[in-house]
Amino acid sequence: MQCNSVTLTGVQLRGISRNSDFKSLNAGAVLRTGGGFTTARLSDFAGVKLEPSLQPGNFVQTFIEGPVIQRANELWADIPQIAARERLQPMDEIDFDALSFALQHTDAMFCVTIKRGDEWPDAYLVPREKFLIDPAAGVMNYAQGIFEGMKAYRTSEGNIVLFRPFDNAIRAREGARRLAFTPIPEKYFVSAVEKTVKANERWIPPMGKGSLYIRPLLVGTGGILGVAPAPEETFFVYVSPVGPYFKGGLKTIDLLVSDEYHRVPSGACGSVKYIGNYANGMVPAMEAKQKGYSEVMYLDAQNHTFIEEIGAANAFFVKGQDLYTPKLGGTILPGITRRSVLVIAQEMGLRVWETPVTIDFVMNEADEVFCTGTAAVISPVGSITHGCNEKVYNNREVGSVTRALYEALTGIQEQRLPDKHGWVHVIK
Ligand code: PLP
Ligand code: COI
Repeated sequence: MQCNSVTLTGVQLRGISRNSDFKSLNAGAVLRTGGGFTTARLSDFAGVKLEPSLQPGNFVQTFIEGPVIQRANELWADIPQIAARERLQPMDEIDFDALSFALQHTDAMFCVTIKRGDEWPDAYLVPREKFLIDPAAGVMNYAQGIFEGMKAYRTSEGNIVLFRPFDNAIRAREGARRLAFTPIPEKYFVSAVEKTVKANERWIPPMGKGSLYIRPLLVGTGGILGVAPAPEETFFVYVSPVGPYFKGGLKTIDLLVSDEYHRVPSGACGSVKYIGNYANGMVPAMEAKQKGYSEVMYLDAQNHTFIEEIGAANAFFVKGQDLYTPKLGGTILPGITRRSVLVIAQEMGLRVWETPVTIDFVMNEADEVFCTGTAAVISPVGSITHGCNEKVYNNREVGSVTRALYEALTGIQEQRLPDKHGWVHVIK
């Protein structure tokens, strides 16, 4: 193979990601080539000094396009020093019938670091592995970080699809702005997600068994002492196959209303997927779980009266033919599932209301309750406890409106139902 046109601008030294020129390769190095090549021999790269453990005839893996696994055996059998080989999990260890929302390490991730304000360069996939970080990094000290949550599905038409990925890209851009990051162009964001999904294709569960959860993450990795944006920022996309977020699939969950904790005050970062919001919710959720509840339902921080969110999901309430969800206003995350459910519900003939929803209404008038999110999909609520009062909905069974919305949403996502709005994005 002739690789004269290859430019060695990026190298992934085990555990260290850096766009730097390099003069020598260590054992465990993974090269990235500038375009088009999927394999190469080290001898194809002129001017590279080799460590004694590497031979000029060795193949290198170049992580550009497509599933890593298909090339892994032929490449990494030849060159045992190459990173990640030992991490490749045989297919028969993946049990798609027993998926929960638990982290699994897959083959490859997208990872690129820039200096604050620089352009996001044409970047690349690397093995999914640990990342060395400066203890003074902005994210470590001042929680400068945002993330997104997306899923790739296999569909009834044999495609691999994303759901409204540009909406995630736009929300990430808003988050980047709020956390003082260099915004990631939407096309770049979606292309990074697509590349990561393709490289981890073997991890996407069969239709009906789960999905590939996708976690784009933008964090301040440059070291900084004063409270200010980090001088370097890293954009990752990693993935994990997942099953249901709440145990048991489409089964009702029990919620506890918190009188003690709030998710975010107004003026904070409630409308973006800021990492600190999730740390803030850990103790409330743990305490609720210890008491036997699945999640916390938060009230607003100012009046302690209006519903905000249910854990990491948006809240919906059904009364007759009316569907209510709390109005966005800076303290609630504008969920993409929420937005989609509002459209689907209207098309099903429900009247939809984005309005402040009081706890009194929820405890006394609602017929059905559910929450929505990429991870939660549509999760029906069986009961809500507020202080000494417990309200049970629909005998703890899934309500008919909740079920119809679930069927409609998942039907579109799995291409079983027509996609009138162009929400389904096929990965080519
Ligand atoms: N609310 C919070 C706090 C979340 O973290 C999420 C998850 O992303 C949602 C709501 C639902 O948003 P989406 O439907 O876009 O996943
Ligand atoms: C999602 O639904 O994608 C989320 O981000 C929820 C997550 C915190 C588990």
